[in-house]
Amino acid sequence: MKLLVRDKFPEMKVKTTKGDINLPNDYKGKWFVFFSHPADFTPVCTTEFVAFQKRMEMFKKINTELIGLSVDTVEEHFAWIKWIKGNIGVDIEFPIIDDSDKKISKELGMIREDEEDSTTARSVVIVDFKATVRTILEYPKELGRNMDEILRIVKGLQVASGKHLFPPANWPNNEIMGDKVLLPAGTKFTEEEAKEQGICKLSDWFMYKNLD
Ligand code: BEZ
Repeated sequence: MKLLVRDKFPEMKVKTTKGDINLPNDYKGKWFVFFSHPADFTPVCTTEFVAFQKRMEMFKKINTELIGLSVDTVEEHFAWIKWIKGNIGVDIEFPIIDDSDKKISKELGMIREDEEDSTTARSVVIVDFKATVRTILEYPKELGRNMDEILRIVKGLQVASGKHLFPPANWPNNEIMGDKVLLPAGTKFTEEEAKEQGICKLSDWFMYKNLD
């Protein structure tokens, strides 16, 4: 069964380059980005791993861990990360899951089951501190992901959850309101109340304000 947004992330014990991890319990109170890649020792995936590693501290600053997965074995993951360190000078520090039996990728719907020798998609599952799936993305094998967008999604969801304010398109560089954020539809303020609270009200259903 395919995982859907708002599902609880299923409980599972996974074998990784950092030892066994119990998901989602070992990440209690934290957000995590769970992503799959098609294969170790492939060019686009290598650029993705370097890009994720370069932003790992930025993810940690927003209480978010990274965890990768492919249908390669832990031994293949170790050989690939050694190659990345030796040739690109980047140490991959986040855990990578061995899903060589394809059990997890099948359970989470990250792999086609109707093709022989299929491999994992470029899937991204963003899970919040209560183990609820908040975003699912899938990219084709031909295109590397944008890690700044993944960071933006986590930051935007944390604003939406923590303050109940909704980041607009292209936030924090929105065409109408810059880095301001929207009040959810259904929020009620008179013109006077909106003015007092620094809310810009274009309509009863379109209001925005600074993120303080
Ligand atoms: C790549 O990462 O470059 C790649 C992986 C699998 C299929 C095609 C490309």
